[in-house]
Parts: sequence; structure tokens; C-alpha cells
Amino acid sequence: MNATTLRQLFLDHLRTHGHAIIGAAPLVPENDPSVLFTTAGMHPLVPFLLGAPHPAGRRLANVQPCLRTNDILEVGDAHHLTFFEMLGNWSLGDYGKETAIRQSYSFLTARLGLDPARLWATCFAGDNDAPRDDEAAAVWRALGIPTERMLFLPKSENWWGPAGITGPCGPDSEIFYDMQPGGPPGETPTSNPARFWEVGNNVFMQYDQRADGSYHPLAQHNIDLGMGLERLLPIVQGVPAIYETDLFAPIIEEIQALATRSDTFALRVVADHTRAAAGVLAAGVRPGNTDQPYIARRLIRRAARYGRELGITGPFLARIANVAIDTLAEAYPALTRARANICAALEEEEARFGRTLARGEAELQRAVAQSTDELAGAAAFRLYETFGFPLELTQELAARHGMIVDAVGFAEAFAAHQQRSRQGGAARFQGGLAERRPETTRLHTATHLLHAALRQVLGPHVEQRGSNITAERLRFDFAHGERLSDAELQAVEALVNVQITRDLPVICTGMDVEAARAAGAIGLFGERYDERVTVYSIGDFSQEICGGPHVAHTAELGYFRIVKEAAVSAGVRRIRAVLGDAP
Ligand code: SER
Repeated sequence: MNATTLRQLFLDHLRTHGHAIIGAAPLVPENDPSVLFTTAGMHPLVPFLLGAPHPAGRRLANVQPCLRTNDILEVGDAHHLTFFEMLGNWSLGDYGKETAIRQSYSFLTARLGLDPARLWATCFAGDNDAPRDDEAAAVWRALGIPTERMLFLPKSENWWGPAGITGPCGPDSEIFYDMQPGGPPGETPTSNPARFWEVGNNVFMQYDQRADGSYHPLAQHNIDLGMGLERLLPIVQGVPAIYETDLFAPIIEEIQALATRSDTFALRVVADHTRAAAGVLAAGVRPGNTDQPYIARRLIRRAARYGRELGITGPFLARIANVAIDTLAEAYPALTRARANICAALEEEEARFGRTLARGEAELQRAVAQSTDELAGAAAFRLYETFGFPLELTQELAARHGMIVDAVGFAEAFAAHQQRSRQGGAARFQGGLAERRPETTRLHTATHLLHAALRQVLGPHVEQRGSNITAERLRFDFAHGERLSDAELQAVEALVNVQITRDLPVICTGMDVEAARAAGAIGLFGERYDERVTVYSIGDFSQEICGGPHVAHTAELGYFRIVKEAAVSAGVRRIRAVLGDAP
């Protein structure tokens, strides 16, 4: 069974159980400045998990490309990746725990043929915030999982979400598969994570976590199931690692053909990171020093560095990316469309990294000259952080000068840095979709009206370059060369207010990308992975690809007022606007 069949089987299974198949969201979330990347299928669905009605119904499923960098240092083992596809299904206040668990169990065993005797389940152990999940455990027992293959674990293990600091979350029940049946008795998913792979997680999203850390029961009890496509593949294909499946074997072979040294870990890092970089670049991100661009840069440079460890000289990432794109071409035609741009961006960044490395070597010479017999951990970490030198490389170069490196000091500096970047990552989640309130929904609909009005007044060259919405105001960045005149600003404002007065209905339709394009919908066409999109139409005035949510009628918006217009960069303008009462 290849990856294509596995995706199909999953969606067929959920369709049979009454789910609507929805399109995947872009890898860089729209209208959500609180996160860098889509990290789970539930992420774009937060407003609907909190109770907004989803236009496709209460049972949803899809395959969502995701990017997570929190596991980046584990990439290289048999089953961790940065860029992966999540098979997901959701109940928005519809079915409950028992149906959810049975549905995932029958997918894994009846559809995929996994051996029920190798499955383990974990359930929430209970604490002051929520009771022990005996209900989930009873379902697993009824399905034939004996208590010996079940664990009750605390919140640190069996609780998922919120995707940040506030929002929907709840106890979960994880599903593990024993990859080495007949291994040492007494081992469990907690004691040996390399042996037991987590293949799925049913989250019972029935709490809303507030900013003060307190949990409040949600009126709507949801299910959020996620399964890692790439982790199921080796199991159904009978191979011991993700890298040996049809999605990865061709990439590994291409790297091996260039390598002069063999190093499984390095091979895997290059394969994962190049594939991830291709996905990020296809989403329109270019390497840089902050936010998404920084992640792109880090993936590319880490891949280049491990390439050098394999003895590869000269630029090679574009060649590897081409193969990675081929493995995903059928499922994600957008990658093929972006192929030339991806390759060009990789070549450019690799060349830039080559120059940085040369400077790093000079810095190392200086550090060595200032030390006696040991290079300080902080100096080694600086080389790692600023120039991308792995500890091994620094150790090797230091050894040539008869010097050792303080590896403990390096590890300490490294851990302190990780702590800081985790805190930074968590802080990002504040606000954004998880705090979606009626005010932000109204401003979101107003943003669509503004976008369409700008195109009517200024011309069709106006395209969205960014959007940021808080409960107080909207902020919209768009392509346009000059400052807007007062007359233009007044025309745009008036045009939006006319549409509000007309009380136009807001209607959501699912369609193929091509149909949306033909219908004249605007939106980020080039950067989508999915061929299926949702289009929000506002009467005859606006049609835009978007994940929602929106108000039902424009009269709900009140009065629209532009408060500021300014430049963001060459060719990009920014408008801030608010909604309020008519003057
Ligand atoms: N949101 C959960 C996860 O990412 C289940 O989909 O694991």
C-alpha cells in the first residue's frame, strides 16, 4: 500500500462514517499572526471547536500538511519528522468518545490490517481539572485491548492543547503500535518510545483553557483525531523506518548517490529537512532571520551542514528537493508548480551559507587562539548558533589545534537557548484564532469587503500581502505602489459601507481550486497544497478563498472606518480600519 492509497483509505473510511472531506489549510495560516505554521489539523478549526458553525457540517475529515520544529533534534531516528501529513477527523459537538475510539480502531485494524495484539492505548489518569478517563478505557477494553496494554498517564502525557496558551483542549487517548513484538517483556510506550510508536491520538476537546491557566467546560464537546500518515506507512509497508517507505526511499537514494561517507542519521536529517524546506518554500516563504523565514533558513542550512558531513561538496539541495517534490507530486500539485522557485531559493541560500561557513571557520581560529587547552562551551555554542557549526565539527577542528571542547558547557548553553525559544514560541500563540470572538469575526468579514473595494477603486493589481485582526481593529497589507489619496480612501470606505447597508448574505461553498479561479474568486492561489478550497461569497460583491469564520449578513458589521493608511515596504501599503456605530 503506497501513500496515495493510505490517504484515500482514510478519507473513504471517514466518508463512510458520514464525514465531509474538507480541504487542507495553507502551511502558513491565513489571518492568524499568532502561529508561524499550521502544526495540526485542528489548528485552522479552532473557531469551530469553540462553537462557530462550520459550513460543511459537524463531522469533518482531511489530510493536513503540518510543520513542527519542536522535535527537530529528534529527526534522524526512525519516526520523527518536521514536515508531515496528519490524517484528521473531527466531531464538532456531534459524536462522542466511544464512536471516535471505535472509528479509529476499525480504521487501523480492519482497513489497514494492523495487528490488534500489538496495539496499546493510553488514557488520562485524572487530576483536579478533569476526572480519570474510565470511559475511554472501557471502550478500549470492549474492543479487546487488555489492561496490560493500557496505561493511565497524567496531563503531561494524556492531555492535548490548547495549541498555544488559550483555547480548546482536553484529555486524550493515544494509540501506540509495538514495532518490535517479542521485544523485552515489561517495556511500555513510556519506557521505550523507540519501540512503541504513537500512531494516533483522539483528543476529547471539552475544555477551554483561559489565559490564567484555568479550564472551563465547553458547551460543545468535540473530538479531534490525528494520525501521522508517515508513521503508518512503514507499518503497512513492513519496513522499520519512515525513511524506507515510498515517500522517502527515493530521496534517501538520491542523497546516497552523492555521499562519500555513510551516516544514517545525517542521511535522514538531509531528507527530512530538504523535504520540509520544499514545503515551506512552496508556501511562498523565503529564507530570512525572523519568523517563518528563519525556519526556512534553519532547515536549509541544517540540511546543507549534514550534507557536508556526508562528504557532499558543492550545492546539492535542489537536486534532492526535485526528488522530494516528485514523491509528493500526486497529492500536492502545488509543489510541482512551485518547483523552479523552490530550487532557485535553495541554491541561493546554500551559496549564502557557504560564505557564512568560511566566516565561522575564521571565528573558530580566533576562539582557539584565545583559549589554552579547552574551548569554552559558550564559544562552541556561539559557533553553532551563529554559523551553524555542529559540536562535532567544532570538536574536530579544535582537535587539529590539540584542543578539546567543553561539551557540558555547550549542552548547558544549548538547553538555555532551547528554553528561551520555547517560551518565545508559546508567547506567539497569544491572541489569534484561539481568541476568535464575535468582534474578530466581524472584522474578518470587513477585511474581505475592504479587499474587494480596494480592487474596485485601485485596480486588480491589489492583492493581499498580509492580514492581522484583533478584537479592536483590522490591519490589511496589500500590493499597491503609491500612497492612497483622500478621495481614494473615501471611495473605498464608502464602497464598503454601501455593501454593509445592502445587508448582503455571506455564503460559503466548497469547490475545486480551478472552479474557484474560473468563478473569479480572489485569494492565495499559488500557495495552497489542496485542490479543494472553501470560498466565501458576500452577495455579488466579493468572492474569496478563506477558512472562515464569517458573519451571516453584512448588516451585522455596523459602520466601517479607515483609521490609517501607510507604507509597509516598497510596493506594499497597509490599512488599519475599525467597525463602530455610524457617525
Ligand atoms: N491535535 C492532536 C494532535 O496534534 C490530534 O489531532 O496530536
